[in-house]
Amino acid sequence: RRPRAHPQSRGFPPLSIPPSLPVGEHLSPPPPRPLLPVLFPSSARSLLLYKHIAFLSPFRVATKPRKERDGQDILAALPPPSPLVDLAMAATVAVDNLNPKVLKCEYAVRGEIVIHAQRLQQQLQTQPGSLPFDEILYCNIGNPQSLGQQPVTFFREVLALCDHPDLLKKEEIKTLFSADSISRAKQILALIPGRATGAYSHSQGIKGLRDAIASGIASRDGFPANADDIFLTDGASPGVHLMMQLLIRNEKDGILVPIPQYPLYSASIALHGGSLVPYYLNESTGWGLEISDVKKQLEDARSRGIDVRALVVINPGNPTGQVLAEENQYDIVKFCKNEGLVLLADEVYQENIYADNKKFHSFKKIVRSLGYGEEDLPLVSYQSVSKGYYGECGKRGGYMEITGFSAPVREQIYKIASVNLCSNITGQILASLVMNPPKASDESYASYKAEKDGILASLARRAKVRHGSISHTPKCIVENMLKFVTAAFLITGIGGCIQ
Ligand SMILES: Cc1ncc(COP(=O)(O)O)c(C=O)c1O
Repeated sequence: RRPRAHPQSRGFPPLSIPPSLPVGEHLSPPPPRPLLPVLFPSSARSLLLYKHIAFLSPFRVATKPRKERDGQDILAALPPPSPLVDLAMAATVAVDNLNPKVLKCEYAVRGEIVIHAQRLQQQLQTQPGSLPFDEILYCNIGNPQSLGQQPVTFFREVLALCDHPDLLKKEEIKTLFSADSISRAKQILALIPGRATGAYSHSQGIKGLRDAIASGIASRDGFPANADDIFLTDGASPGVHLMMQLLIRNEKDGILVPIPQYPLYSASIALHGGSLVPYYLNESTGWGLEISDVKKQLEDARSRGIDVRALVVINPGNPTGQVLAEENQYDIVKFCKNEGLVLLADEVYQENIYADNKKFHSFKKIVRSLGYGEEDLPLVSYQSVSKGYYGECGKRGGYMEITGFSAPVREQIYKIASVNLCSNITGQILASLVMNPPKASDESYASYKAEKDGILASLARRAKVRHGSISHTPKCIVENMLKFVTAAFLITGIGGCIQ
């Protein structure tokens, strides 16, 4: 028999186990499974099935030993659903009646290789010693804290105090937290309506935090930034989806994407039903972006009836690691203006530059340096708390800064953002902190700087080692690896930009 899919892979949310249930004891047997689901029409049926399984499962799980209850494998330990439930589901939802855009979408970062690794991990847990290794390190995505990178103390102190503000009333915190963490937490709490990190915020994010981010952008770029242009997001990814949702009407809408790319872009374009228009980075010029190639691809797409809406630039690049030269960025901006393209600037690796002669320039700064204003070019710039030296991927924080869009279009962007209510507040606070880290006069500055420099030096060292080994790997092997895209993270996932 085909192994049954994991409940979460079938769309069920993880189950929460009531803490009060006794461990290892047999509870009263589960009530009989209702037959109603199979009798009901399809839409009502899935809802009932969902409730049925979510309601019954905790009882079953509680009969398992603590090891299984506490571990991640709790869902794998569930008995398979009855054939009755399966049949009902098969009639309602099958792969061939799913949204074809979902089927078309591929996301290798979490694809076959990762799924195989998870299988092996499960095997290691159930049959220790059955494989010639006893640990799996996941390098398929840049996720540094899962590989031992420590979070920056200042960020975590501020988050802890914001999340548990009663601590601020206690004398002892002065010996446990730095003075500037304490004062920053107080400032941040004063910006949050109700001082509540557990409350929804404005759909764009807390205004005071957006003000702080705007001032961080202004001091980075030397040009003003406006809090109304900032949309706080759960990492950069949802911001990318939002723009694809906004721009793509059908498969005749195209988005120019660099190849090699970070697969978020191909996945998101497929999900929203558009066409990916590739342009090719040139390895012989350090993975440079050549306007002539982009223009050729644009014209080719137009000749096929594709309405090309936007150009994605990942700078510094992933997986290629290039840092664009300022002159090149000027050309890209002029090109977008002349061709009427939205510029989607993925700048999540802005802190990960390990070549002494390279410097990050934001596209916002380049656009303003050219004297372009709001009416000249629609630009969306992405930043994330996942990358840089912060590496706070699991906190899901980031923002997009949108400039050059008309008021009615901005209203639509706001409307889409508001459908998700708001991004998570921890991520919002972190985004404000990474854009406003401690200053030289602050008590925590010395330790903050030591931690930051240590992390960046370690990432640079590992990126160079990895770059060296990949450069000496026969081209055919690298090409084969790159087919799986995940291998690209061997370069940036553990390091960043060395080109
Ligand atoms: C180039 C690039 N953009 C965006 C992301 C998405 O990151 P997040 O959604 O965690 O901010 C990643 C993640 O690796 C990335 O490499």
